[in-house]
Amino acid sequence: MRLTLHVWRQKGKYEAGRFVTYEVPDVSEHMSFLEMLDVLNQRLILKGEEPIAFDHDCREGICGMCGFMINGQAHGPLRGTTVCQLHMRHYKDGDVLWLEPWRAQAFPVVSDLAVDRSAFDRIIASGGFVSVSTGSAPDANAIPVPKVVAERAMDAAACIGCGACVASCPNASASLFTAAKLTHLNLLPQGEPERDQRSLNMVAQMRVEGFGHCTNVGECEAVCPKEIPLDMIAKMNRDYLRATLVHRDVQAKGGTG
Ligand code: SF4
Ligand code: FES
Repeated sequence: MRLTLHVWRQKGKYEAGRFVTYEVPDVSEHMSFLEMLDVLNQRLILKGEEPIAFDHDCREGICGMCGFMINGQAHGPLRGTTVCQLHMRHYKDGDVLWLEPWRAQAFPVVSDLAVDRSAFDRIIASGGFVSVSTGSAPDANAIPVPKVVAERAMDAAACIGCGACVASCPNASASLFTAAKLTHLNLLPQGEPERDQRSLNMVAQMRVEGFGHCTNVGECEAVCPKEIPLDMIAKMNRDYLRATLVHRDVQAKGGTG
């Protein structure tokens, strides 16, 4: 296949970016999308040009490092897939592709298609932990957790922090990501001691980082490679409301909560 790529090139956060056009004349349908970019980059290096920067690590859909927009769609045209798991057999000879980084104020461009997602790390650091000593595996299994609750917590834990939800949301909201990180701990008994403080802290940090508000558009759910459901945001809002009321009651009684 012969493909034409229009790739966003930008040297850094404060530099102006622009699309640069590349022809890739010999794409195999067996290549992954990132392998196709590897081939293009190898040629750019041999010509003495700067290769295209993009994030990646596992290339197995696990780590959440990869991700950019392909023709306006986060991770490309397939549902439930990261860009590292997208293969070129989904394209045809003559296709024209536009590659852009995630665009959000809270995700400044590092270089080309790579963005700084450390805002996600700070949201997790604000509440994504438990303080109880959970002991070894047999001790943990001594705490009965209903199957339906455990499965929902594990569904939330599937979030890989890729940022596609933010990039696709017209408000650049991080609600689906934060809801997933918050829900997976708030549902389990091990996460109960910090439940309210976690809800307050993670939602507050999300706002500090400059992410927008959720207005129920649903683009996040549509592009999420791990199919995190939209109703996790409703769960986060309920937990946040509960935490706010508890906090207010404690303060009204003269406590420090
Ligand atoms: S919720 Fe989905 S799209 Fe958002 S960061 Fe997690 S895995 Fe990626
Ligand atoms: S490189 Fe790890 S999920 Fe794509």
